[in-house]
Amino acid sequence: MAEHEVELTVDGEAASVAVEPRTLLVHAIRDQLGVTAPKIGCETGKCGACTVTLDGTLVKSCMLLAVQAEGGTVRTAAGMADGDELHPIQQAFRATHGLQCGYCTPGMLLAAERLLADQPNPSRAEIRSALKGNICRCTGYQHIVDAIERAAADAGGAP
Ligand code: FES
Ligand code: FES
Repeated sequence: MAEHEVELTVDGEAASVAVEPRTLLVHAIRDQLGVTAPKIGCETGKCGACTVTLDGTLVKSCMLLAVQAEGGTVRTAAGMADGDELHPIQQAFRATHGLQCGYCTPGMLLAAERLLADQPNPSRAEIRSALKGNICRCTGYQHIVDAIERAAADAGGAP
């Protein structure tokens, strides 16, 4: 099948990938660019493991074709840290044991970042609602909600 050259930016780095029209964005990011923060879970848009932002919007990268990201700016959870310095939300997840296997964590982190940008002082119900597109099979969600609440508090939001 003919390949298309797609130019995009991933975590601040300009990139170019040759993809088939059917190539999913998550496969281009992981398999061709080697950025493995977004995970592959269901590949049907349900689990949120593959979540990234595209031009600032949260998207499930298994639900987009790579060609749809042409000229776009992708951010993965790997792009949240500043070098070796974890992002405050990442620090909160670590401090509150907001992960076990970590498979859902990249999507959770980006969903949390989006929430806190929109609502710096969310209630626990609002946190749970913001995570409804992200499934965790390990934690029971309690510590994930704790982590986001703590991140909000550390940023001067919730007490
Ligand atoms: S792998 Fe994309 S939503 Fe599950
Ligand atoms: S920590 Fe394992 S799926 Fe969430």
